[in-house]
Amino acid sequence: MRVLVIGSGAREHALLLALRDDPQVTGLAVAPGNAGTARLAEQHEVDITSGDGVVALAQEVRADMVVIGPEVPLVLGVADAVRAAGIACFGPGKDAARIEGSKAFAKEVMAAAGVRTANTEIVDSPALLDAALDRFGPPSGDPAWVVKDDRLAAGKGVVVTADREVARAHAAGLLEAGHPVLLESFLDGPEVSLFCVVDGHTVVPLLPAQDFKRVGDGDTGPNTGGMGAYAPVPWLPDDVYRGIVHDIVEPVAAEMVRRGSSFSGLLYVGLAITERGPAVVEFNCRFGDPETQAVLALLESPLGQLLYAASTGALADFGELRWRGGAAVTVVLAAESYPGRPRVGDVVVGSEADGVLHAGTTRRDDGEIVSSGGRVLSVVGTGVDLTAARARAYDILGSVRLPGSHFRSDIALLAAEGKVRV
Ligand code: GLY
Repeated sequence: MRVLVIGSGAREHALLLALRDDPQVTGLAVAPGNAGTARLAEQHEVDITSGDGVVALAQEVRADMVVIGPEVPLVLGVADAVRAAGIACFGPGKDAARIEGSKAFAKEVMAAAGVRTANTEIVDSPALLDAALDRFGPPSGDPAWVVKDDRLAAGKGVVVTADREVARAHAAGLLEAGHPVLLESFLDGPEVSLFCVVDGHTVVPLLPAQDFKRVGDGDTGPNTGGMGAYAPVPWLPDDVYRGIVHDIVEPVAAEMVRRGSSFSGLLYVGLAITERGPAVVEFNCRFGDPETQAVLALLESPLGQLLYAASTGALADFGELRWRGGAAVTVVLAAESYPGRPRVGDVVVGSEADGVLHAGTTRRDDGEIVSSGGRVLSVVGTGVDLTAARARAYDILGSVRLPGSHFRSDIALLAAEGKVRV
């Protein structure tokens, strides 16, 4: 089987590594890729938002399956174009990708499926904003205002703040840009990401993971696309994990089928484990980054065959997934100023070591690898437990050099110390 992977992040680098290990995968191509993925797959240029462009490339490389990594092409319907050309595609069509593309749509689906989530109010006019803000936030007993962009925002559309003026400014800015805003009640509790491979009704959950969205140690500073992650999640009881699959993901998948927008691909549920049980923070329509880097490091089952089974509606026959024991930790190395406008163009030293997954990197004409984005690379360490996996990840990171770069030093620390409590 020849596989074309669309995307250019560390998530796609991790997908390619796992696909390469599948004995049934005979050829790999990636577009647009990065300096790291070029070592694993034929690298091509493509406009990832163009269905015609991706189909033409898939035909050129004789792909048997296209795996679409990022959300933007999925929300734009690129998977529909690939399937219409008769090529298997891992990733939902445009209708189903709305579960990530519109937070208001996701709330509708959750309500219909009877799934617990935050109380929400959708504001689509500046005139309604102040009264809505008064109904949320600290005065109503919550510890913070939660203001979300209805549309895709690369992980940066959410502001959680106890400062009404900050909440108001974020909401007003979104409304000015023509984006509806969601005000939500704050869900208090540790967060978990659960990735499920889905082909309509059949749901195959992967190991749970936790990611770290704030830029600074101790969950301080602004939100980012993700600064690190670990898997599995030792503090998540098995019955809660099974309940998430049974009471949340399966009913949502069934509701999508009922609406005629059956979900085929990776359904990612982000949850807060509150005192009253799990509650959904968000759904995404693709593998999450950086959790994928940790989860796939532990997957023993052949990834190409798993994704192909989902793409062709054969997931029910795939059988139990197999996992390596132990734990995996991934830590993101970000460029100076990220999550603001990142500094780019600096030489990255040590990035060709095992365990380094590239994201914002490119190879210059003189052969040097240079930074070209905010999240430059991830390192992944595995070990018998989280402590060992953390030590390995930070050890690898210690051998990478990038001027002005920064990373969090506390990824998986509380979990490794047994200090996360449900
Ligand atoms: N880890 C957050 C995301 O992928 O959206």
